[in-house]
Amino acid sequence: MALIPPTAKFLRGFLLAGLLAGIAGRTPAQVPEAVIPDDPRVDALLARMTLEEKAGQLNQPSAEHATGPVVRSDDERELIRQGLVGSILNADTAQECNRYQQLAVEESRLKIPLLFGLDVIHGFRTEFPIPLALSASWDPALVEQTARFAAREASRQGVRWTFSPMVDIARDPRWGRIAEGSGEDPWLGSAFARAYVHGYQGDRLSDPTAVLACAKHFVGYGAAEGGRDYNTTEISEVTLRNVYLPPFHAAVEAGAGTIMSAFNSLNSVPASANPFTLTTVLRDEWKFRGFVDSDWTSVQEIIPHGIAEDGRTAARKSFLAGVDMDMVSSLFLSHLPELVRTGQVPAGRLDDAVRRVLRLKFALGLFDRPYVEIPAARKPADDPAGLELARRAAEESFVLLENRPVNGAPVLPLAGGRARRIALIGPLADSAADMLGSWKCEADPHDVVTLKTALEERAVRDGLQLTYARGTDIAGSSGAGFAEAVAAARASDVVVLALGESGGSSGEASSRAHLDLPGNQPQLLEAVAATGKPVALVVFSGRPLTLARAAAQAPAVMLAWFPGVQAGPALVRTLFGDVAPAGRLTVSVPRSLGQVPLYYNALNTGRPRQDPIGMQGRAPDPHYVTGYLDETNTPLYPFGRGLTYTSFSYTPVKVSTAKLSAAALNRGGVGVTVGADVRNTGRRTGVETVQLYIRLRGTSVARPVHELKGFARVSLAPGESRHVEFKLGRDELAFWNQAGVKSVEPSTLYVWIAPDSAQGEPEKIEIAD
Ligand code: BGC
Repeated sequence: MALIPPTAKFLRGFLLAGLLAGIAGRTPAQVPEAVIPDDPRVDALLARMTLEEKAGQLNQPSAEHATGPVVRSDDERELIRQGLVGSILNADTAQECNRYQQLAVEESRLKIPLLFGLDVIHGFRTEFPIPLALSASWDPALVEQTARFAAREASRQGVRWTFSPMVDIARDPRWGRIAEGSGEDPWLGSAFARAYVHGYQGDRLSDPTAVLACAKHFVGYGAAEGGRDYNTTEISEVTLRNVYLPPFHAAVEAGAGTIMSAFNSLNSVPASANPFTLTTVLRDEWKFRGFVDSDWTSVQEIIPHGIAEDGRTAARKSFLAGVDMDMVSSLFLSHLPELVRTGQVPAGRLDDAVRRVLRLKFALGLFDRPYVEIPAARKPADDPAGLELARRAAEESFVLLENRPVNGAPVLPLAGGRARRIALIGPLADSAADMLGSWKCEADPHDVVTLKTALEERAVRDGLQLTYARGTDIAGSSGAGFAEAVAAARASDVVVLALGESGGSSGEASSRAHLDLPGNQPQLLEAVAATGKPVALVVFSGRPLTLARAAAQAPAVMLAWFPGVQAGPALVRTLFGDVAPAGRLTVSVPRSLGQVPLYYNALNTGRPRQDPIGMQGRAPDPHYVTGYLDETNTPLYPFGRGLTYTSFSYTPVKVSTAKLSAAALNRGGVGVTVGADVRNTGRRTGVETVQLYIRLRGTSVARPVHELKGFARVSLAPGESRHVEFKLGRDELAFWNQAGVKSVEPSTLYVWIAPDSAQGEPEKIEIAD
């Protein structure tokens, strides 16, 4: 995708918008060799190592304060002295990292430094919004900044490796780990994958603030059957290559140093012992130069998966398939030396794995600077630049989904005489810990400014009357607080209702079989709405919830996800209109649980409910069509949706040519330019996320009815219009086809530019041979 500014007049605004989104999404891939350079010291060192020391470099126990099946702290210290540990995860302070490091670089024979890894997922100390929220910004440059900031904080403590980004495509909100990724779209997911990698790793790994990225969980983890964490996945190769692999490939091309193999089985083969994905795709096709870490005990877990009966077989199968480092199982340490001695594992395979690990340790400069300076004191998250970034990131991530007028004006922003008396109600209004979501890393709830605190400050500043009532607990069943909440609502001009899940209800091992607001929160909403006062519902969650009934009762609905340390200030500024909401959904919001998995880029069926293009003008039989007897097929809110405090209009899309050549495109030839004018038709400045969609027909394998292939955030003043253009070439039009090749096929291309995935009028282009 590329943006072409129409006139110099808009250059500044364009550049801003472009830098904020589209252009960053296309940051050219760094050449991985340049990111992970060869170092002559690697082979020199390798030549001096015993088999045990080699296996040691592939052994990754967890630091002593963590829990886990095979963590024995005294042993770990001795193992480090013997050169039998290559990396430690979960050491998180400079003191702790240095203490372990000293054993390695001063007391072991070869003095090879340890690499410290940690789950720095959406911030280290300064907590940003959860990744799903960050993705709703559609702003890869912003995400890159948050990752860079987190890398600075983490590296100061000696942590030079994060188990992030999670680039799993997730189509099922029951799966709690949907919170950790960038949603359901491979194109957008790839843009964010690149942004995270560049942010963590910085310009060069040798920079002491560079933190190795780890794209996880390779692969297919997000397709867990039933949305149940760790569950089986079945994904055809076409879907694997067109949907689940692209964000990983983007991360590899951006230079990601490591990949984590997943827990799930993929097409009956555990992902941590899968030679097709770990070797054929990752090494042979993508030429990945970094190393593969297993997920936590996932090497050992191939025993319960059923493809190994003992630890020795598990180690052999997993290692031969392509896992290089064993997180926590310690099976590589126990078995690889003997497996090599008996010829069951080639010595060259062991050397390759160790070489990959050592190469990165040299690249990171760990041999030259194994220690970090001990900071004077453990400080709160008080860096003004970090807090400002956290606030801005939260503001960009809020998705406004309803803003219906009450008494002639939309409920939001809260303004003037219509909102002098505010009732703040709900269990999430003042819950600091929940604002951090899952994987809060080193964040401290004391650093969080809640919505209540920030609203109190605003009330004092603006002379507003604020009444607070908690109403109920997050998973509450008692209605004891309802009367107070209803009284507060009655005495107000407007209610801000803060409902949702707890911060721990999403993330790992946090799947849900129900997607409603938990506990008796729906009843609280009902009681508050019955007062007739306008309700602005702010929903905190790590996943899309089923909100059909809530949205009917509350005229304004905004998804806040888990916004991080600056939750309150960001929300108050948005609710009062100091800034306008700019987030767009990166996941479809279902109407009801029975619809899931539900995603916008689905295949058509032979019996679509409604599809003039697919049905070629014939009306479908109203009964024998795909669907439910008791629910529609459409989501409550589609992928890409998000309102703001102004409105935009789009002109019909214009294309630069009505005919393309597949052969020319496959040779990298010129594609088509697609453009539309976007106009701010409202009364205040706003940011619009302009989205480019395509559909391909007449292809060898069925293609989705919509596919995102470009986006741009543009800021427009009232009345201002901007011409936005995208280029479609091979990158956008090629897909993995029936012959197992990625190519542009002769086909019919439909293309359109729209504010979300459910709108827009397509233009038709022929792609000839
Ligand atoms: C999770 C990974 C995480 C690892 C290390 C596992 O349980 O699946 O995402 O990086 O633990 O903490």
